[in-house]
Amino acid sequence: MCGIVGYIGSKEATPILVEGLKRLEYRGYDSAGVAVLTNGKITIEKQAGKIGGLEKHIVNRDLSGKSGIAHTRWATHGHPTQTNAHPHADCTGTLALIHNGIIENFGAIKTELIANGHNFITDTDTEALVHLIEEYYNNGHDLEAAVRAALSQVEGTYGIAVISSTEPDTLIAARRGSPLVVGVGENEFVVASDVSAIISHTKDVTYLEDNEVAIIKRNKLTIKTIDNLEVDKKVEKIAFDLEKIEKGGYDHFMLKEIMEQPQTIRDAMRGRLLEDEGTARLGGIQHEIDSLIYAPQMLFSACGTSWHAALIGEYMIEEFVRTPVEVEYASEFRYRDPVIERGSVMFVISQSGETADTLAALREGRRKGAKVLGICNVVGSTIARESDAGVYLHAGPEIGVASTKAFTSQVTVLSLLTLLLGRMRNMGASKGVRIVKEMEALPEKVSSILENQGTIKAIAREYHQSQNFLYLGRGYNFPVALEGALKLKEISYIHAEGYPAAEMKHGPIALIDENMPVVFIATKDSTYEKIISNIEEVKARSGRIIAIATEGDTEIKKLADHVIYVPQTLEFLTPILTIIPLQLLAYYIAILRGCDVDQPRNLAKSVTVE
Ligand code: AGP
Repeated sequence: MCGIVGYIGSKEATPILVEGLKRLEYRGYDSAGVAVLTNGKITIEKQAGKIGGLEKHIVNRDLSGKSGIAHTRWATHGHPTQTNAHPHADCTGTLALIHNGIIENFGAIKTELIANGHNFITDTDTEALVHLIEEYYNNGHDLEAAVRAALSQVEGTYGIAVISSTEPDTLIAARRGSPLVVGVGENEFVVASDVSAIISHTKDVTYLEDNEVAIIKRNKLTIKTIDNLEVDKKVEKIAFDLEKIEKGGYDHFMLKEIMEQPQTIRDAMRGRLLEDEGTARLGGIQHEIDSLIYAPQMLFSACGTSWHAALIGEYMIEEFVRTPVEVEYASEFRYRDPVIERGSVMFVISQSGETADTLAALREGRRKGAKVLGICNVVGSTIARESDAGVYLHAGPEIGVASTKAFTSQVTVLSLLTLLLGRMRNMGASKGVRIVKEMEALPEKVSSILENQGTIKAIAREYHQSQNFLYLGRGYNFPVALEGALKLKEISYIHAEGYPAAEMKHGPIALIDENMPVVFIATKDSTYEKIISNIEEVKARSGRIIAIATEGDTEIKKLADHVIYVPQTLEFLTPILTIIPLQLLAYYIAILRGCDVDQPRNLAKSVTVE
């Protein structure tokens, strides 16, 4: 959700904090602020809007100092205004605090503190926390103890950083529910919501767990629990280089990440395909194979794009492994008291590994006795650390808010899992070898789609002013229809719906007229004839038809207004190809509509609050 960053060391803090905010901007971008210890007092500057605005605002202001904190916001409580932007100060300006998360009992705390004479100036939940810390600070606690005492009263989630003008050599950070990482440098420390704000300073990091507090002095880091017990933490290495989080010459991270997919699909398969045996190997879950193969039931739980990948995983596992699979929206699963059979295995799928609902689903599944395995992209993320075991996507950092390469890598990993378990069930070696060969050919096939963007750009030009879109698919391509619609919604703000093609007759067909573009994923597979009938039904009502079809299918040209061809592959692997044109279509339509594709309105890359 929000992005927080703090610095204490020997260098000027402000440039480091502003650079850190830019790296974290994909987490939330409706307002921003910075607080720096300058000449013994805390100076706070904040602005509504993007970090660029804050940067202009502070150009001629004295924000010199060697420690400070900064924040980029995704508003939960109180409009994204300058006043509600973080950092928040206490009554005297002695303390400044930044927060990522939600203080659920802020109302009760605020009422009590106002009665004690505190003066509140914002509509936020966060302000209650800085005044609560002030309450303890004014009653003889030092900064560390005041923060721990206040946090022991808080209900909800937080990643926070706090500074004080009366303890200039101290920075306190703490987490519960929201991610927080401490970068350990040469006589300096950078604390941040994720490693992207740390990597240009050091690759040595330590990840805070829930209810841990970091007491950071200029040259010493101590980690304690909220109950004052010291914790011995290991320092880990960040697994990628800085250029991985640069645009690499592309206009947008989203386009860069779309174009990276031949390589990221290759990386998801690297060392995991065993051609001779016609099977796959997933080192991260190898020791859990028995519980997987004998599981009476599998559950996939996720949110958004990851949930769409889970749906495809369900189709694959049930077709080739014959184990029943339940796909669960994590936000529903955590509250609906699900029935989980003994011995069940639950996969939680999350690109960021920090999505609050998916993390809660993980904990609920474990509470109900399931073995919990993770499929994540971000190394060291909370879901990866809390899972019993798991598989990393190795897709590299995904910065664009609209997920693209993570989706094709998730489907690739689910295909590997299907091959691995399928070969342990009824799939023969020759079929396995065929699948391995087809998977190895995927990156080239994706490249060939990316090399032919002309048709997609022309379609985008023709339909970028449409108000509605319908996406229809069958079987493995039904979830692709959902994902295609989500991409368009997210970045172009056009209302779009994905549907199983046959469901259209049960209602959505009423929407069809000459103004409704309908995208059909109509590759040559087991449901091809059926989807051709659905195309006929739309054509009969003057709908505009855009078909994603298999190369060589000339028949469909007679029916559809526009055809985008993708290479042939095995039916269960088609989603990895058919989603590519839909990602590009959404991208080019959004560009033509002047939308900010990397930071679409109202969204954030990692949803760390409920
Ligand atoms: C997808 O483009 C969105 N950014 C969003 O739906 C995302 O997939 C969802 O928030 C889940 O994120 P995760 O995979 O990091 O858990």
